[in-house]
Amino acid sequence: MATTTDISTTPTGTEGDNSTPAVAVKNVHKTFGIHKVLNGISLSVGQGETLAVLGRSGTGKSVLLRLIIGLSQPDSGSIHIQGQNISGLSVDQLGAVRTKMGFLFQHAALYDSLTVAENVAFPLEHHRREMSKSERTDRIQGLLAEVGMGGSLDKMPSDISGGMQKRVGLARALALDPEILLLDEPTAGLDPISSREIDELILKLQREHRMASIVVTHDLFSAKTISNRLALLDQGNVVVEGTFEDLQQCDIQFVRDFLKHS
Ligand SMILES: Nc1ncnc2c1ncn2[C@@H]1O[C@H](COP(=O)(O)OP(=O)(O)OP(=O)(O)O)[C@@H](O)[C@H]1O
Ligand SMILES: [Mg+2]
Repeated sequence: MATTTDISTTPTGTEGDNSTPAVAVKNVHKTFGIHKVLNGISLSVGQGETLAVLGRSGTGKSVLLRLIIGLSQPDSGSIHIQGQNISGLSVDQLGAVRTKMGFLFQHAALYDSLTVAENVAFPLEHHRREMSKSERTDRIQGLLAEVGMGGSLDKMPSDISGGMQKRVGLARALALDPEILLLDEPTAGLDPISSREIDELILKLQREHRMASIVVTHDLFSAKTISNRLALLDQGNVVVEGTFEDLQQCDIQFVRDFLKHS
């Protein structure tokens, strides 16, 4: 099996200084039945940094994001959010940590029976109960305008395109003003033009909100555009980590094959 290699020559974000990473994954193992999915994986993301996580289907990228958001527990190892180990937190404590994180699920995962505006309202209704109805309406309109969906508040998810659904998913992920943004395949299933529009939107959101982000993607062009650093996974671990140029110069066969076929 390939060994983990960090070939970054010019680390970005807070790597290399003493500040606490926004997200740190330390030696995490996760097995389902006899299927070992994550095999001692470690990685970290600094404040304001964007890490792209790449890898073949089934290599554990979505599992990793679910562990980071606390929807599932590692068998061993630990996950730290802004320095806090989330294993062993009470439900309330975990809920508080989770409100710092915005999450875009792999298939946008909008609620089919709710309008676009109601989808974005959902986290606000659960976590910002102090907001008045008019404040909430203003917030929803602002979020949807920010992602270019200001004219679609009353539409149903089934009436808008896949790219638009991703935009609404992003607005929902931003609803609680997260410090950490986790995006699972934000451009999957979109045509190249819509994919580039989503990339531009993610770059704009990063500039304006300065969140730490982890973006899982199959889309190498997208990864190169929106991230400071990339990590390529295989067999539940990081094979190589660095800038896009670092990956291009890597001579590990798996990395060369992955880049060639992406
Ligand atoms: N709750 C679960 N129970 C059993 N197996 C699971 C569960 N969740 C994930 N797996 C398995 O873990 C492996 C990794 O799944 P994961 O969804 O993380 O892959 P992925 O890298 O995100 O793939 P893709 O690129 O296709 O989205 C798969 O073989 C999947 O079937
Ligand atoms: Mg996945």
